[in-house]
Parts: sequence; C-alpha cells; structure tokens
Amino acid sequence: MEKGLQLYEGKAKKVFAAEDPDLLIVYYKDDATAFNGLKRGTIAGKGIINNRMSNALMMLLEKHGIPTHYVREIGERETLVKKAEIIPLEVIVRNISAGSFAKRYGVEEGIAFEQPAVEFSYKNDALGDPLLNDSHALALRLASREELEKIRAYSLRINEVLRQFWNTRGVTLVDFKLEFGRLGDGSIVLADEISPDTCRLWDSKTGEKLDKDRFRRDLGGVEEAYREIMDRLEKQPEPEKSGENLHD
Ligand code: TMP
Repeated sequence: MEKGLQLYEGKAKKVFAAEDPDLLIVYYKDDATAFNGLKRGTIAGKGIINNRMSNALMMLLEKHGIPTHYVREIGERETLVKKAEIIPLEVIVRNISAGSFAKRYGVEEGIAFEQPAVEFSYKNDALGDPLLNDSHALALRLASREELEKIRAYSLRINEVLRQFWNTRGVTLVDFKLEFGRLGDGSIVLADEISPDTCRLWDSKTGEKLDKDRFRRDLGGVEEAYREIMDRLEKQPEPEKSGENLHD
C-alpha cells in the first residue's frame, strides 16, 4: 500500500496519510529516546519488533473485547490504523514498583502491589508529562468523566489480559503506558503502541530486564533483549489440557 503525505513525526514513529481518509499508516523507526528526549540513540531492528509486537498484542486485546486502532499490518515497519484523535493522557498501570514510582515515593524496585496502581500523566513534552488526577483532567477538558471511567476500566482489563499472556511466556509484566484516542463516532479506542518501549518486562525466573530500561540505564544487550522478548511472544505456551482432550 502506498503511503500518502507524512502528517507527523514523533520520537519513535512517523504517521502518514492512507488512501482511506478514516485510516492512517504508522511507520516504526529504530530511534530511541529517554528522559523526555535528552538521551538519544538507535536500537537496530527495534521498529520491526515493536510493529510486530504491538500488532500481536492489539489483536489479542481485540479478542478480549478491547477496541483498538489496529486494522492491518502492511509492512515489516508499517501498520494501517484507524484515525483517532489522541487524548493527551498517558495512562500508566503498575503491578510492581519500578522507575518513576520507586523514585517518587522512595521505595525500592520490585515490590509487588496487591492491586494494580493506575496513574495519569498529561501528555505534554514541553511540561515533562506532569502527573495529574481525574479532576485535573476534567479541569483541563482533556476528557469527559465518562471517558475517564472507560479509559480506567479498559486499562485495568488490558493489564489482566497482558499479565496473563506474558505469564504463560515466563515474563512478568511490571508496568506499562497506554494512550487512547477518539474515533469519528466519539468511541474510545486503544491507540499508540504496546512494545518493549512502553512496558517493563522482566524474566520471571531471573528478573532480567527485557525492555527499554536496558537502553535508558545503559545496561547493554539492548538489541538482544528486544529479540529475546519477541521470541518469547511468538513462543507457543504449554497447551492447557481442555476437558475434551482429557477424554481422548
Ligand atoms: P516510569 O516508571 O518511568 O514512569 O514508566 C512507567 C512505564 O511507562 C514504563 O513501562 C515505561 C513507560 N513509559 C513510556 O512508555 N513512555 C514514557 O515517556 C515514560 C516516561 C514511560
């Protein structure tokens, strides 16, 4: 499929017009940034992995009743998505303390929570994506109360589905960031990407980091970690014995 005009270039992706005005083409780059763009680099092959992983996970979520912007993969770095007006909120769901949570509250990394913690940030690079609560989001007219409720419910359901999925592949889902958008009819869909750039994924046995923290923290083995997590995603989990099979 021919890409149309480039509409936008972000830190990790470019967005192009598609033939259908209700759709867009997303192109995944190998560029990596951290700390609000202060640290820059390249992770060879990242765009290919993030495209494939995000598409596979969005298809999984669709099967579990979560509406997403995903339409169809059209190239190793390119995907057709529904055009959505991005709601300027970054929704972070955390199962285990890490990253900015550990720093902000002065706790060590790796403490498992009894309930997932959900937080919202205002998606605004110039301000450094400040944390906000529902009443701030309403005051800033970023979303309606109903939309915020739907976004929170979807985010918690996404956490359940993804946690269980990664669990069967020997990976612990520590935390992740989501973005949502509004379609033309006003309905909310999951947008952006779900990838090792936007999730913390730890090997369940060894605790090894298999995500972008290897780049953020100069841990080395960045490309290898992206390839490893992609292999885990594509590995078939142990088949569960169903009732039917038991009678065979
Ligand atoms: P944090 O602990 O740095 O706040 O990150 C929480 C999660 O959100 C982590 O999985 C990485 C992801 N994330 C992004 O996807 N984009 C960002 O800009 C930041 C800061 C975090």
